[in-house]
Amino acid sequence: MKKNKFSKKWIIKQKRDIYVKQSKIEGYRSRAVYKLKEINEKYKILKNGIKLVDLGAAPGSWSQFVKKNFKNSKIVSIDLKEMEKINDIHQIVGDFSDLNQKKKIIDYFSGKIDAVISDMAVNTTGNKSVDSIVTGELSIEALIFATDTLKKEGCFVSKIFMGQSFNEIITIAKKNFKQVNVFKPPASRKDSKESFIICKNLR
Ligand SMILES: C[S@@+](CC[C@H](N)C(=O)[O-])C[C@H]1O[C@@H](n2cnc3c(N)ncnc32)[C@H](O)[C@@H]1O
Repeated sequence: MKKNKFSKKWIIKQKRDIYVKQSKIEGYRSRAVYKLKEINEKYKILKNGIKLVDLGAAPGSWSQFVKKNFKNSKIVSIDLKEMEKINDIHQIVGDFSDLNQKKKIIDYFSGKIDAVISDMAVNTTGNKSVDSIVTGELSIEALIFATDTLKKEGCFVSKIFMGQSFNEIITIAKKNFKQVNVFKPPASRKDSKESFIICKNLR
């Protein structure tokens, strides 16, 4: 029994290492890049010429991925933390919840946006339910922002946690979007309560 438990842990760790190693080989700043890659493989949310907002972007692997793989993409990324420069991306250091920062994002694009993607997560307090509630509030804020700024056929992706705010997020999402899916990409750690909501086509 003990041996099985140990080998399961070992396998999980190995898998984790594979994503970390691969991100280093491919020049991405975080293993998180593979979550976006897997979401895109399944739901086809990205395209050339995309106008996209990356919320909670640091250290920057999601923005790197879009810039590298989709020609003529126009990207704004925002994070509380300073992020190393990525060429040809408009980077904002600030709190997405601040109205001035939201205005800066909107002003950068002349017109509506194709995609809002959010991997925002608060600094962990050690209390998993507090973390999931606060991150849930951020997801709802991102969802409302997406509803206001996206094109009709636009798309919203956000990290969500299985927890108290999960049902609330799904309900708001279904009121605003025609297609709503929840997906845990293989690159997301099995022991994490994290999943992603993928919303397409505004009502
Ligand atoms: C999991 S990391 C994002 C990783 C990123 N997707 C990547 O590929 O490199 C979560 C980020 O959310 C940011 N964040 C949390 N709350 C935020 C807020 N209110 N406004 C902007 N960024 C926020 C954190 O600073 C952190 O860098």
